[in-house]
Amino acid sequence: MIEKEFVGRTFDDFLFRPQRGVVASRGGVDLTLRLSSRRSLSLPIVSANMDSVTGAIMAQTMALEGGVGIVHRAMSIADQAREVGLVKRSHGYVVERPLCLPRGATIREARLFTRKHHITGILITEAPSGFRLAGLLANRDMPWSDGCEERRVEEFMTPADRLVTARPGITMADAEKVLFEKRIEKLPIVTADGVIKGLITKKDLILSKQRPYSSKDSKGRLLVGGAIGARGDYLERAAELIRAGADVLVIDIAHGHSDAMNSAVKAFRERIGDAELICGNVGTGEGALFLKNLGVDGIKVGIGPGRGCRTRLETGAGIPQLQAIREVWHAVGDSVPIIADGGIRSDKDIFLALVCGASCVMLGAMLSGTDEAPGHVIVDPATGQKQKIYRGMTSPQAVLQALYEAEDQPGSEDALSTPPEGQEMQTPYKGSVIDVLHRIRGHLASAVSYSGAGTLAEARAAISADPLRYLIPLSESSYRESYLR
Ligand code: XMP
Repeated sequence: MIEKEFVGRTFDDFLFRPQRGVVASRGGVDLTLRLSSRRSLSLPIVSANMDSVTGAIMAQTMALEGGVGIVHRAMSIADQAREVGLVKRSHGYVVERPLCLPRGATIREARLFTRKHHITGILITEAPSGFRLAGLLANRDMPWSDGCEERRVEEFMTPADRLVTARPGITMADAEKVLFEKRIEKLPIVTADGVIKGLITKKDLILSKQRPYSSKDSKGRLLVGGAIGARGDYLERAAELIRAGADVLVIDIAHGHSDAMNSAVKAFRERIGDAELICGNVGTGEGALFLKNLGVDGIKVGIGPGRGCRTRLETGAGIPQLQAIREVWHAVGDSVPIIADGGIRSDKDIFLALVCGASCVMLGAMLSGTDEAPGHVIVDPATGQKQKIYRGMTSPQAVLQALYEAEDQPGSEDALSTPPEGQEMQTPYKGSVIDVLHRIRGHLASAVSYSGAGTLAEARAAISADPLRYLIPLSESSYRESYLR
């Protein structure tokens, strides 16, 4: 049973009582918590599957920083799979299927190719459909003088016989040695017959050393998730995303405690099998047990707290977010990780969500307005302030865009005729999301120190078991003293 002090309460209704600190340096505080029943994150932050928050660039950055991004689904299956593939290919010990062009391709094609896939060099193959290495066209080989656009890449590439290559199975230590000794940036992996089997890049090796905390799969590739929904083409979408390398899929529907979810998860398990699956959203203990009994790997919690969300305003349905987290934790405990989704407005909310039972938080608004979020920076002509757009996924603008992106997406027409429960707004431009995550990491470490624990997991274990020992419900005036500035 949920403690009565949490009923009707959310983040701003509490402070936590500082304990004797044991943390020597906040920089070294371990913040690792579980994302799902199958994996943990060193920074328990997930970027929301919203079209103004998570595309490939956000997902890539989130994983590099120790979190994870869930690529939104308001686009065709092919486009979403391409975004997922971009993240999987962007870093890794070895890029297993490097992007290639045939030697007959034009410089114009090569230029477009590097821009489209955000790469700095292309492996060139002998025949259009073969995988025999013909050469490497690096950025510096790309001609910049006029009149070269229709010339062939083979005229400019470094041919295979002048390239340093390595055989499959080379260790990372050896690859690093070769890259340094030969002063090269890219090391193609080829068989004795010259067939391409991968690519190791200096940039990736350096990044792995600089960021040992990045979220990676067993092959050293960045983690990424994809949203699939529960209707229409969601099973084809799931299959394609898995083919593209998605590590976790999310069935993201507004009312996850529903018959629609029941049939969606069952069909998913039948067709797709044992892939890692997070489902939501629910806001009650009954909803969480329902998802647990369906065998999901993570439960996404939040009915209506989101910044771009109008569900509570339009339907009156919802659960204050800290109450929801607590209620769900009482129902499922630590048997299935809880992802607190929505309503986080400051870093202290993240800490409270985690120590009251969540093991990750999903952020939308807080990560929007950053360079890595999709969309352009708009300058307000009146004030000169820079803004980006943030919007709920059922806002009319997001629904229209989804229709435009994927005309054949089943269910989109329905969505347009349903009255919106989301809204669009402008949000101040914030610079890089890396700075936002750095700030969150620092504040979480500091909160751990005040909690008397050595790690975030220890703080969570202690406080979630007995929150009323630690949390102080606030009066109106102590709320004002604490949170109004
Ligand atoms: P924050 O507060 O972090 O919340 O921006 C992000 C979460 O909001 C949810 N979301 C919506 N909820 N109508 C809703 O009721 C919408 O149009 C909508 N769009 C997003 C979603 O759970 C997201 O992760």
